[in-house]
This record gives sequence, C-alpha cells and structure tokens, in this order.
Amino acid sequence: MKYFIGNWKMFGVPKSINILNKINSFYLKDKNCKKYRVIVTPPYTLIESYSKHFKNKKIIIGSQNCYQKDHFSSNTSAVSPFMIKSVGAQYTLVGHSDNRIEGDTNHMLKNKVHFALKNNLKVVFCIGENKKEKQNKKTLNVLTRQISQVLDKNLKKNNIIVAYEPIWSIGTGKIPSSMELEKTIIHIKKVLKTTFKSKSPAVLYGGSVDGSNVKIFKKIKEIDGFLIGGASKSSKKFIDIIKNYYR
Ligand code: 13P
Repeated sequence: MKYFIGNWKMFGVPKSINILNKINSFYLKDKNCKKYRVIVTPPYTLIESYSKHFKNKKIIIGSQNCYQKDHFSSNTSAVSPFMIKSVGAQYTLVGHSDNRIEGDTNHMLKNKVHFALKNNLKVVFCIGENKKEKQNKKTLNVLTRQISQVLDKNLKKNNIIVAYEPIWSIGTGKIPSSMELEKTIIHIKKVLKTTFKSKSPAVLYGGSVDGSNVKIFKKIKEIDGFLIGGASKSSKKFIDIIKNYYR
C-alpha cells in the first residue's frame, strides 16, 4: 500500500473542502486507486466537518499534531488525541519539524505517540535533519536518535508510519539526490526493523514533492509514499503527483 498524505499546515477554511472533493472524484475514477490511500491533515478547525463529509468516502482525515496528554487537562489551547479522535480524525502527524522547532522535544513526542496510539489514532511520525546536520554528515545519526528516543518495540507497529522530511527540503524546492535518499530510507528501515524486532513500518518521503520530481522518487522502491505540503493545497497539483507516480 502506498500513501499520499497532504499536510495543509496553516491553510484552509470550510469551503476549501472543494479541493478535497475534486481529489475524491479523481480517486473514485482512478484505475490504480486500490494501490494507495489518500490522507489529508487540515487544521484542527476543520477536522470535524471534513471527517463527517468524508465518512465512508475515500479521503481519510487526520490531524497535524496532538497534545502530549490523554483525555482532558488544564492546558490552554491544547488538543488531546482523545479529542481529535472524538471528532473523526483517524491519523495524526507527530514530530513535524515545524513543531520540533517550536519546542517539541523527543520526550514530548514519545508521550504524543503513546497517547495517540492509545486513542486508536494512527501515527505518522516525522523525522529529518536540518541543513547544518546534513553538511556535517550527521544525517543518519540524527535520524537514528530521533527514532530511538521516541519509538520502541512495545508500540503498535501496525499503526505507525514514519515520514522522512529533511528540514532543508521543506518548502524550498530542493530535494535529496536519488542515491542519497535511497541510502537514507534503507537506513531508516534498518533502524525501525531493529527497534520493532520485525519488519519496518511504511516509510514516506516529504519535502518539496511535486508532480515532476515524483517521477524520480518513484524509482526508489523503498519509498512507501509521500507527505506533501505546498502541493496538497491544489487539487490539480496533488492529483498530478498521484498520476505521475503511476504513469
Ligand atoms: P512541502 O511539500 O511544501 O515542502 O512541505 C513538506 C511538509 O512539510 C509536509 O509535512
């Protein structure tokens, strides 16, 4: 199964659902539709209405983040996995670099993953190195640490997906070379296999994915799908990614 996950970040109002309606119509007609899953993470404000709208349809709604506690608490502006699940989200991102930069530590992320899984959310755990770490050839060490400090073999592996998003690639149009990316994804899968003492969960790539560079990425067989930012805000761009992946 391949995954095409659209992360809207701080984008979207109720009528933006039209973008997803177009993607849903494409999906229903696509002869390849059984081979992949489309998930979109709109902001918190839209999760409930979009989840209701797409109930029993093909697009799955997720959340971009969740708080590191279960159920209810007295943390202003926080939204727990329990609350996200109660309005219909099926997935949540955890550890997106936007949130790491704003203070999410590995300890917090461990709690987020734990409580998200406890509330039957599937987790898309994001990892990735920054530009300096890449320049200093620290990429693989950084990724190993990000995984080992958050994931462990007691977690429900089948409900976890890992997304590799190099920070220097997000929103910049820069992408890793195919050789580099293949080597990195193989490394991530090896670390995950050791962590879970069984087959690695799906590993996605994210960072400036578009309808054109997806033709390069599709040649790397280890990539199980994509986490798409900018291009997921346009139905045409998002559909082009899927079309060109299977062309
Ligand atoms: P872009 O596709 O805009 O580079 O964003 C990637 C991302 O951060 C998805 O989570």
